[in-house]
Amino acid sequence: MAMLTAKLSSPATNWLTGGRSPAGARRSAPARRATLIRATAGSYADELVSTAKSVASPGRGILAIDESNATCGKRLASIGLDNTEANRQAYRQLLLTTAGLGEYISGAILFEETLYQSTTDGKKFVDCLKDQNIMPGIKVDKGLVPLPGSNNESWCQGLDGLASRCAEYYKQGARFAKWRTVVSIPCGPSALAVKEAAWGLARYAAIAQDNGLVPIVEPEILLDGDHGIETTLEVAEKVWSEVFFYLAQNNVLFEGILLKPSMVTPGAEHKQRATPEAIAKYTLTMLRRRVPPAVPGIMFLSGGQSEVEATLNLNAMNQAPNPWHVSFSYARALQNSVLKAWQGRPENVEGAQKALLVRAKANSLAQLGRYTSEGESDEAKKGMFQKGYTY
Ligand code: 13P
Repeated sequence: MAMLTAKLSSPATNWLTGGRSPAGARRSAPARRATLIRATAGSYADELVSTAKSVASPGRGILAIDESNATCGKRLASIGLDNTEANRQAYRQLLLTTAGLGEYISGAILFEETLYQSTTDGKKFVDCLKDQNIMPGIKVDKGLVPLPGSNNESWCQGLDGLASRCAEYYKQGARFAKWRTVVSIPCGPSALAVKEAAWGLARYAAIAQDNGLVPIVEPEILLDGDHGIETTLEVAEKVWSEVFFYLAQNNVLFEGILLKPSMVTPGAEHKQRATPEAIAKYTLTMLRRRVPPAVPGIMFLSGGQSEVEATLNLNAMNQAPNPWHVSFSYARALQNSVLKAWQGRPENVEGAQKALLVRAKANSLAQLGRYTSEGESDEAKKGMFQKGYTY
């Protein structure tokens, strides 16, 4: 791989069309073609590939705790806590200092405030992560706003100043980034919204790679709606084909990205639920049709599924080898029982950290295809879907 990436990063190398081409090929293929299809990730290519591989390592996945201050406030409010910086820090400290977490967790996505925070003893959160071989990641999008001219849909802001922000985050220790945009099935989705989502993700991915951060590409297809699983499949295929079209147009290095898709499920209000086997079948069908094997990792979001559902579905997807590492990047499905166990009380920190390890281990087993839901609590089986939920 070192050789491959060295070639990818060398602007002078025409590795796809150059070298020993069949006789006549050079004359019939115009020289410009090579520049069009070459992926460039600047001087960071080798590092991006190794970062992505480390995040996509066997039996591990991502802990997503990148809620904006407003969304973190919702989590804290669920256990009766005020949304103060001290409470956000206490909560993130609990999560990031859990001993043994690195066995199951390979990356943690942070919000900007957390990236620059330390524990109450003065140890940087970034260093707590590094000590456990967990890559620090950073949410870089600036959230969703209405998309004029669409069917009540939204678009994701954050490209202005992104390059300099990424460079600063890299200096602070971040090695990967996340940009979450959404697609709504009940709203259409309109061609405009899909194109905007895909283009924004691709521009972000190119800028993140240029500054040494592995981009997590996340077009979340919301669970909202009463549609069947076939409709989700159709929309997901459309969305991912556009995303990859624009990623390629922007010369993004596929070996240095990670995806964060929604699982292909029926809409949350559909009359019938799907089994983990059906969800795995539809989701893997979509991925095989749309995602090149050069991509190292697929890190699913949980999207409002219960903790157990999200884990069972992931487990079902890992019953046979896949071309990519198929794993998790859950927020709600890793944090729910932790919050319940903590309740904001110092004497509950240990119990809350145990709850985190239980979920992290369950998902680690699911990544390896070895999970069973035996012994799971009723709390972990409770769905978390909220209609129109905003992050
Ligand atoms: P959920 O697992 O709660 O859907 O989180 C998704 C997400 O994008 C957080 O980074």
